[in-house]
Amino acid sequence: MDEHVLKTYLRADEVFVDGCGAEVRDATGRVWLDFLGGIAVSALGHAHPRLTAAIADQAGKVIHLSNLFRHPYTEEVARRVALLTGLDSVFFANSGAEANEAALKLSRKYQRGKGRPERMSFLALEGAFHGRTCGALSLTHNAKYREPFGPLLECSWVPPGDVAALENALHTLRPAALFLEPIQGEAGVRDVPHDYVRAARRLCTATDTVLVHDEVQAGCGRTGTFLAGDWAGVKPDIATLAKPIAAGLPLGLCVVAEPFAKVLQPGDHGSTFAGGPLACRAALVFLEELEEGGLLAAVRERGAELSAGLAALQREFPLISELRGRGLIQGVRLAEGAEEVQKDLYRRGLITNRTGGDTIRLLPPYVITSDQIQRGLRILRDALEARSSAAKSAPNPATVRA
Ligand SMILES: Cc1ncc(COP(=O)(O)O)c(C=O)c1O
Repeated sequence: MDEHVLKTYLRADEVFVDGCGAEVRDATGRVWLDFLGGIAVSALGHAHPRLTAAIADQAGKVIHLSNLFRHPYTEEVARRVALLTGLDSVFFANSGAEANEAALKLSRKYQRGKGRPERMSFLALEGAFHGRTCGALSLTHNAKYREPFGPLLECSWVPPGDVAALENALHTLRPAALFLEPIQGEAGVRDVPHDYVRAARRLCTATDTVLVHDEVQAGCGRTGTFLAGDWAGVKPDIATLAKPIAAGLPLGLCVVAEPFAKVLQPGDHGSTFAGGPLACRAALVFLEELEEGGLLAAVRERGAELSAGLAALQREFPLISELRGRGLIQGVRLAEGAEEVQKDLYRRGLITNRTGGDTIRLLPPYVITSDQIQRGLRILRDALEARSSAAKSAPNPATVRA
C-alpha cells in the first residue's frame, strides 16, 4: 500500500507497531532486537516511560509557539549543551543536515565579516557524510549522492590522517571552514586518528579557518563522552548535533564557540519549527537521563561489553577484518559477504545496517542491557558461523574450472 510514497528508500517489508527499550515488535507479533536505534536516534530506546510522560504532558500544554516567543525549554537545553560541550551558544534546527546548513552560513558570514569575501569554499574529509540538503550535500564526499544535483557549493576533500595534505589544502584553497566527523559513521564507522584531529585544530586556528565538528552521528554521548572529539581533547569552533538529542523527535543543534557567537544576527537565519517546546522538552529528558540518570556511564559499560564480545568474535572468525568505533557506535568490517551477513542478521531478528559497503554498523540504544548485548553477540556469532562454513563448503572456483 505504499504506491503514493515517493521511492527514496528501500524499506524492509515488515510493519513495525511498537517497542520497548532495545526491542521492537512487528505486526505479526515477532520481537526484534534493535542494534540500530533508528540510525543512532533512539538513545532512550522505545517507549521510555519518562520520555513518553514528558511528551504527553507537553502535548497537553503547548506543542508549538514559533521562535518569536520564549518558553522555558529552549533556554535550558542550550544552557546544558553549552556546559557539556564547552561551547557558548546554540542555533536550533530540525535535523543534522539543517544544523550543518547553519554552520555553513555562519562560516561564510564570519569570513565575509573579516573582510575575506573570497573565502567562500569548504574543505571536508574523504568519506565525509554531512547530509542531503544542497549545502550539506556539497560537503558529502560520495559522488553518487552529489552528482545528480549539481552545481553545489564549492568543496574539496582531503584524506583523513594526512596532515601534510590538510595543511597544503588550507593554505592553497583558503576555505571558509573545515568540516570533520571525529568518527565517520556513513563511511563505515571509520575512526579519524586523534593526532589528525588535533593537527586540524592547530591548522584551522593558524589559518583562521572555522573548524566544524559534525557530531550528528557520534556525538551526544554515544562514544562515552558527550562529544566524540573529546577523545582527541579538541574543542571545535562549531559542533553540530542531531539524531539522539531529542530521543526521537526531530531536533538539530549548531553549537558555536564564543568568538563566533555574534556572527549570526536577527534575520540572518531561522526555522519555523526548530527548538519548539515539544522537541526541547524531550531533549531535556534525554540530557537529564544522560547526566543525572547515569546513561553516559552506561554507554561506557555497555560499549566495553560490546567491544570485548566483538574482539572475541574477531579471534574466532577471520572473516572479521577490522573492528571500528567505540562505545555504542561500532563497526564490524568483513573481508567479504557483509551484505549477506547483514541480511542474515535481520532474518535472525537482529536489526543492524551496513555502511561503507563492507561494514556492519551497530548503534544500539543507550538503554540496552548487558543481556541484550550478549544476545546480539550470539546472533552475530551464528550469522558469522553460517557465512564462514558456507564459504568453506563452496566449491573452489579454480578447482571447478580445472
Ligand atoms: C555525520 C552526519 N551528519 C549529518 C547527517 C544528516 O543528518 P539528518 O539525516 O538528520 O539530516 C548524518 C545522517 O546520517 C550524519 O551521519
